[in-house]
Amino acid sequence: MSLLINRLVKDHEHLLRLLDCLDHEVSGYKDESEHTPRLWLILDALDYLHNYPDSFHHPLESRLLSRLRPRLTDASQRAVMAEVEAEHKEIRQFTTSLIERFSALSMDQVIPVNQLLADYQKYVELQRAHIKKENRVLIPAMKAILTEEDFKQVNEALKVTPDPLFGSHTWESYENLYQFVVGVPVEQVASEVH
Ligand SMILES: [Fe+2]
Ligand SMILES: [Fe+2]
Repeated sequence: MSLLINRLVKDHEHLLRLLDCLDHEVSGYKDESEHTPRLWLILDALDYLHNYPDSFHHPLESRLLSRLRPRLTDASQRAVMAEVEAEHKEIRQFTTSLIERFSALSMDQVIPVNQLLADYQKYVELQRAHIKKENRVLIPAMKAILTEEDFKQVNEALKVTPDPLFGSHTWESYENLYQFVVGVPVEQVASEVH
């Protein structure tokens, strides 16, 4: 299997884990919550989502997708691929909007928190559904149809960027986020959230 596909699959696992952790922090803003949300963690996580998935992972998928699309014969598969492409744009805009509003919150500006929580909920649902869809349709189609030559060309066209959070070298600005994401067992995060 291509290294690029391995990379996408690993990114999805990391992303889902990060979203679980982010959920846990954001849930602190709910009225009934007893835990104080750490806004810096939320901002670091959103900053990472902007700097890596939105800036590298999705463009990588889009490039592979553009090679895959003309070779798809199944209409329903083509429709799913169009959805995936549209969702990349939607997710990117959504991340930016959340960064703006959580940043405003950090500067003590008055923000309608309930609206922010509702939008955050839509955002994580979209992210999770998107990953699920890609794992179900996009990844298998790439494995079945793309050739080593495709991967080679995409690799050359796109400067392969290391993951600044889960890669071999974590950016200093993400050290605390990394400790949080990998330091807390997933089951613990899940049980605290639900
Ligand atoms: Fe994607
Ligand atoms: Fe993806």
